Order: sequence, then structure tokens, then C-alpha cells
Amino acid sequence: MKRSREANDDLARRVEAITWYHTFDLPGGIVTPGLFDHRKVVHKLPIPASLEGKRCLDAASSDGFFAYEMARRGAAEVVSVDLADASRQDYQRPPKDHAKLTLGTGRATEAFEIVGECLGLDVQRVDLSLYDLDPATLGQFDFVFMGNILLHLSDPSRALRALATVTKPDGRLLSFEAVNLTLSVLRPKTPAGQFWHEDSGQWWTPNMVGHRRILHAGGWDVLDHGGPLFQPFGTHKRRVPRKVPTNGRDLLYWVWTRQVGGSTAWAIARPADV
Ligand SMILES: C[S@@+](CC[C@H](N)C(=O)[O-])C[C@H]1O[C@@H](n2cnc3c(N)ncnc32)[C@H](O)[C@@H]1O
Repeated sequence: MKRSREANDDLARRVEAITWYHTFDLPGGIVTPGLFDHRKVVHKLPIPASLEGKRCLDAASSDGFFAYEMARRGAAEVVSVDLADASRQDYQRPPKDHAKLTLGTGRATEAFEIVGECLGLDVQRVDLSLYDLDPATLGQFDFVFMGNILLHLSDPSRALRALATVTKPDGRLLSFEAVNLTLSVLRPKTPAGQFWHEDSGQWWTPNMVGHRRILHAGGWDVLDHGGPLFQPFGTHKRRVPRKVPTNGRDLLYWVWTRQVGGSTAWAIARPADV
């Protein structure tokens, strides 16, 4: 159905009014200016081509790119879980300033709703912490996607154990996580991780084998794995810095990470028989 010019202008205004984490192709040629552009990497992930008949969960969904992707692949039902209230996220040290603590509250929910309206895909949004996932309220899922979240959690194994309770015994988890590339190259067989500097939104980034070790510790048997994959940034972030970086961390970011993308790895796992 052809959309009116007014409808497209209205959508463009709504898109412009918020900050986007994910990049979506919306009607009228509108593309959301996401922090990341997973359109360029989603085909490299082992998400089944058809999810027909499957109950799917996108755990820590943000704007819902992967939830909508699972709906697009024919899932019978998709549930997208995220925290609407940004102050409920785990911080190394919660900012004392209330405005900083609550920055981003409601943003992802709004983005998620705009996309749902535009794409006409049915995904249920649930405002819940991963720590509180409970089969009594959510039931169990056949296929679970969980991306880029373990690094933000102070207790990743607690979240993984809760996730296992909402996954069917023969269900599958696709864990797609940020990994530390240097530690993956230097220590390919030894689980290791980077503990983040005092950036309050992140805790640790494992190497690739460390990612699998965390899944194992959290009650999952890893069946397959892959990576590194580079998660490209979207247009939200500049490609070149305004000023020449003066410290090594910024230099590495602008010369490598910003250009190539964030390092990630994936693993397919099933709940361990315990
Ligand atoms: C880095 S984004 C990842 C988004 C998406 N999964 C992806 O891979 O592109 C992390 C998301 O996790 C959410 N989050 C943080 N702590 C959470 C928790 N304890 N329970 C549920 N969601 C959480 C944040 O609100 C944010 O939307």
C-alpha cells in the first residue's frame, strides 16, 4: 500500500525526535540513524531462516532489531524483554546525579513502538530485568536471542540461569556478545576478560573462549560457536573524530573499532541437564 507524503513526513519527524540504538529500514525509504547497524551482520549469525511455529525471546532487546527479525522469519510468537527504566540497569557505580542515572529511560520503548507500528510485525514488549525472568509468567521459549548484554551485567551467570528457566529443555540460545579481540588472539584457549575502566555502563568483556566459559558457568551447554564478527556502527556516530585523539584508548577506537566495528562472537547453547 502506498503511504501518503504526510504519513512519511510524520514518521521522519518521529524518527528524528529520538536517539536510535538500532538501524531499521522503515517505509518511505526512512532509515533510523542507529548507534549500530546490524543489517550488515545479521546474515552472518546462525538465526534459523524459518522460525515458523517457534516461541522466541529477545532478551535485552533495546529497540528490538533482533525481535523484529525473528518475527520477520515467521516466529509464532516473539517476546522482547528490556528495562524501560534506565536507572534499574547495573552500574559499576550508579551516577549520583538523577538526570544522569535515568538518562535514556523510555527511549528504547518508544523506538520499539515506532518500528512495530511501521512494520506491522507482532512482538510483545515486556518491561523486566533478565534477573527476574520466570517461566510462571513468560512460559518457555524454543529460540532465545541474547545480544550484547553480558558486558553490562554485574552478575551475568545469574541472568543466564534465569534465562535457562524460560528456555525449553530442547530449546536453543543464540548468544551474540561483545568480546575482547586482543585477549582472544593472545589467549585463544584460556578464558580471560577485560574489566572495564570506570565507564559506569559496562563491566567486563571476555575473550572468545571466555564468552563460552560464562555460558557454561551460567547453566548452558555450548553446541557451536563462531567469530570474531565485527558489529558495524551506524550513522549515529561520526566516522572521524573532531580532534586528534590524545590517548591510546581513543586512538584505538577511532582507528580500528569505529571503522571496522565492535568485536563480537556468537555461541549456540542449550540448557544444561542439571
Ligand atoms: C547494548 S544493548 C543490546 C541490544 C541488543 N540485544 C543488541 O544486541 O543489539 C543492551 C540492552 O540491555 C538492556 N538491559 C540492561 N540491563 C538489563 C537487565 N538487567 N535486564 C534486561 N535488560 C537490560 C538495556 O536497557 C539495553 O537496551
